[in-house]
Amino acid sequence: MIKAANRIASVEEYYFSRKLAEVRGLDSPELRVINLGIGSPDQAPSANAVEALIASAKNPANHGYQNYKGIPQFRKAIADFYQNIYKVKLDVETGILPLMGSKEGIMHIAMAFVNEGEEVLIPNPGYPTYSSVANLVGAKLRPYDLKEELNWGVDIEALKKSDLSKVKLMWVNFPHMPTGRTASREELKELVDLARKHQFLIVNDNPYSMILNDEPMSILSIEGAEEVALELNSLSKSHNMAGWRLGWVAGKKEYIDAVLKVKSNMDSGMFLGLQHAAAEALKNGAEWFTALNKMYGERKQAAKKILDVLGCTYAAKQSGLFVWAKAPNHIADVEKWIDEILYGTKVFITPGFIFGEAGRRYIRISLCCTVEMLSEAFNRIQRFNAEKATSSKTSTVNA
Ligand SMILES: Cc1ncc(COP(=O)(O)O)c(C=O)c1O
Repeated sequence: MIKAANRIASVEEYYFSRKLAEVRGLDSPELRVINLGIGSPDQAPSANAVEALIASAKNPANHGYQNYKGIPQFRKAIADFYQNIYKVKLDVETGILPLMGSKEGIMHIAMAFVNEGEEVLIPNPGYPTYSSVANLVGAKLRPYDLKEELNWGVDIEALKKSDLSKVKLMWVNFPHMPTGRTASREELKELVDLARKHQFLIVNDNPYSMILNDEPMSILSIEGAEEVALELNSLSKSHNMAGWRLGWVAGKKEYIDAVLKVKSNMDSGMFLGLQHAAAEALKNGAEWFTALNKMYGERKQAAKKILDVLGCTYAAKQSGLFVWAKAPNHIADVEKWIDEILYGTKVFITPGFIFGEAGRRYIRISLCCTVEMLSEAFNRIQRFNAEKATSSKTSTVNA
């Protein structure tokens, strides 16, 4: 038996990779599993994107290795998107690096910038990959709490008072997953100023900016950000292309070059057909996002009904693909409660602990499920609650 490398001991298999196997195992033709767990859009990308992929794939000349930096047409489409949506001017030649989703960039950025023992600021609660990757590169994790009292904002004053001298990288993620919190320009400016003062890299992971969000924002639009910031972005959520693995990192040339040094040693460019399709998808205008957000808005209403019947509380305004909610006080162990619901109703909801200690009392419902399925989940949970109430009455009577 060959022993795995020590660094493997510092990470666990991704929660969803384990849990969803169990969830799938519960599926049966009599009662289908309703998965309200993962944020994988269930709708098709725009027709122009799919057609561009097909047309490109039909061309025999399009199947070779590609340039590590992607084709100019794709980079130009990203630059246009940044200009139109965030009013940010990116350098098409040097300021954009296509990635296989923003998740990939989390690893590449950590590899490119963080030395062993250096500190990485990680939001708690937050996307679990930030911590896993920090562990894999031997960094010291510095979770920073997002406080419910601050409507899940960063406690910037607390950060300012702490020793930031060994921090090399700070992950921020606005709109934030899982809480749905957006950041104001002032908050982002304060964070950028902190990064400048203490000379660490600040990276905004920004895949949710187009979902249920009135003011899409890029950290690169903040004055002075270019000096210290990178931004990850992706077509996974905004363009229903999660499985296509299309994203990018944007920022100044020197930082992009450092990421490219890592990435060009790990893969050999992105399939040309995907790049053609991505460039097409990025042309989708306001009507695409209006329709998308109308759909998610309707789903959110249905998701809130589930949260109400569960006795959860939640903030009215949340951006992104999820609704984040606090479990009722009488629930002692939220993870166990989620499992009870899963085994009793075959509805899977994400327990908040997977996003860090600060998420322990919370749950997250994904909007990547039709209103019909959300309503069916509501009915099952309502029935389950009623049966539980009856059986607890019966057992009291029998006692
Ligand atoms: C905060 C956050 N960052 C990154 C990702 C990964 O997205 P992508 O599909 O672009 O890799 C996700 C996906 O769920 C996410 O929630």
